[in-house]
Amino acid sequence: MKLDIFTLFPEAFDWFESQRSVQNALSRGGALRLFNYRDTTPLGAGQVDDAPYGGGAGMVLRVDVIDAALRAAYANDERPRVVLLSPTGRLLDDELADELTAEPHLALLCGRYEGFDQRVHEHLAEEEVSIGRYVLAGGELAAMVLADVVMRKLPGALGHERSALEESFSPVLEGAPEYPHYTRPALYRGWGVPEVLVSGDHEKVRAWRAEQSRARAEQFESGAE
Ligand code: 6GU
Repeated sequence: MKLDIFTLFPEAFDWFESQRSVQNALSRGGALRLFNYRDTTPLGAGQVDDAPYGGGAGMVLRVDVIDAALRAAYANDERPRVVLLSPTGRLLDDELADELTAEPHLALLCGRYEGFDQRVHEHLAEEEVSIGRYVLAGGELAAMVLADVVMRKLPGALGHERSALEESFSPVLEGAPEYPHYTRPALYRGWGVPEVLVSGDHEKVRAWRAEQSRARAEQFESGAE
């Protein structure tokens, strides 16, 4: 997977780049590249935004600036699927994450200020993705969330394949949340662990976990969580 992130704040991704799942993806032929709109802006003095036509508060990222960044990055290459991070986009869930993980090459556009000129949405991005119905100060955190979800789904990212396969919302669990986990100590401040887990009966453990996962799914659907 090649992942290109376009942003005004590439340094915001320093911590993210150091994460193990990202390092694993990179060591397996993946790539994470950061592009600063300011580096390729056709305007003077690193200008990237402008006041909105019609007036109003805030600044808008210019369409010529975003276009220049994409053109510079993909002068010779094929353009990847371009995803714009926007609070009003398609809600990110496990299904969308699987869809994006299947792409060999993705570009993420992060915005700040009041957002992008509408022509960026219409002509330069294939789709818009949101991580929830609330507004963040910028797309960077949302891009990291998306990149985290995608990277850890790549083969070999976790170093333990079953942990991704059996995790919450995965098809193996029929889209249900994962069952609860326990580890030592078996008794702590009077808080015990379910007897079945220390019974050594693998069939019973499997059945218990499936039941727990189902029960959590029901809770989820009734909006209890
Ligand atoms: Cl993708 N961007 C911003 N700025 N805010 C958000 C979001 C994205 N998703 C939820 N809130």
